[in-house]
Amino acid sequence: MSIAIGPYIIDNPVILAPMAGVTDRPFRQLCRQLGAGLVVSEMVTSDTRLWNSRKSRLRLDHSGEAAPISVQIAGGDPEMMAQAARENVRRGAQIIDINMGCPAKKVCKKAAGSALLRDEKLVADILQAVVQSVSVPVTLKIRTGWCADSRNGVTIAQMAENAGIAALAVHGRTRACGYHGQAEFDTIAEIVSRVSIPVFANGDIGSAERARQVLDYTGAAAVMIGRAAQGRPWIFREIAHYLATGERLSEPTLDEVRKILITHLNELHQFYGEVMGVRIARKHVGWYLKTLANSESFRKTFFQIESAEVQHASVHEWFERRITRGAQAA
Ligand SMILES: Cc1cc2nc3c(=O)[nH]c(=O)nc-3n(C[C@H](O)[C@H](O)[C@H](O)COP(=O)(O)O)c2cc1C
Repeated sequence: MSIAIGPYIIDNPVILAPMAGVTDRPFRQLCRQLGAGLVVSEMVTSDTRLWNSRKSRLRLDHSGEAAPISVQIAGGDPEMMAQAARENVRRGAQIIDINMGCPAKKVCKKAAGSALLRDEKLVADILQAVVQSVSVPVTLKIRTGWCADSRNGVTIAQMAENAGIAALAVHGRTRACGYHGQAEFDTIAEIVSRVSIPVFANGDIGSAERARQVLDYTGAAAVMIGRAAQGRPWIFREIAHYLATGERLSEPTLDEVRKILITHLNELHQFYGEVMGVRIARKHVGWYLKTLANSESFRKTFFQIESAEVQHASVHEWFERRITRGAQAA
């Protein structure tokens, strides 16, 4: 089952959701290597005047990434969004994704992210301005609506299709839901039945079986995975394999988790430099460790480490001890 987004064919229907502070270039590359069919960057503000900060510069860096490079932009002003889209394409973006899905704060005193869903005229203006400003495909990410009483996801999806949006990701919660409760997939199923562009179902999908259920229930073209990929980037290959064959892939061995984690660490240190890289690595390593039993005391130790070299060595040794103990117990 492959999906066309403009000229790009996505083979695996398992997509990494954009997550600010998480889906940086090292993490995106890792997820691609481990089976994600498409990855989407962290959101970049549409206010290009703010792009000189280190944070923005790093977010705008796509060197070495595999095609198609999808960059998400966030903002509430159609002209600024169009300008940001053009500028991102100039810097290598091959797909522009518009953020109307995350409870982003205001950008430039205007509503942004899912707050836009309340203003359908503004949504239409933004979609039109961005689609017309670039020749690459433009995708959109939304929630099911503003709040439970105003679940206008279907209307927005139809507007998106009419505006020339190439694919649509839908998180099965309203803006008002935040991250509470369970994602619902009825609205997503309805959206799928009402538009002919590919729809990606998103929200609380954490296993291959759940991905299969959601695809069957909604008829969506792909699943989009966010939090479940934190510390488990191999989830993409697990889901892709299960969807393709109906068989569960075995969990990675400790040795393989170590290899993946060490590669990830090295990439973070290299991408951010030592000071920032060490800080960002704590968050990611914490997520990996959460998936492993009896890792709490090592997590505390790891969080105190200030150097890249020591982080590297301590991860290596911690896994080594566990692998040796496991081999002795066997
Ligand atoms: C830490 C974090 C950051 C996020 N940042 C963004 C973002 O920049 N743009 C966006 O559209 N959604 C963002 N989201 C929402 C996710 O893309 C996704 O829709 C949501 O987490 C639900 O999917 P999940 O249950 O698979 O995590 C973010 C979510 C999290 C947890």
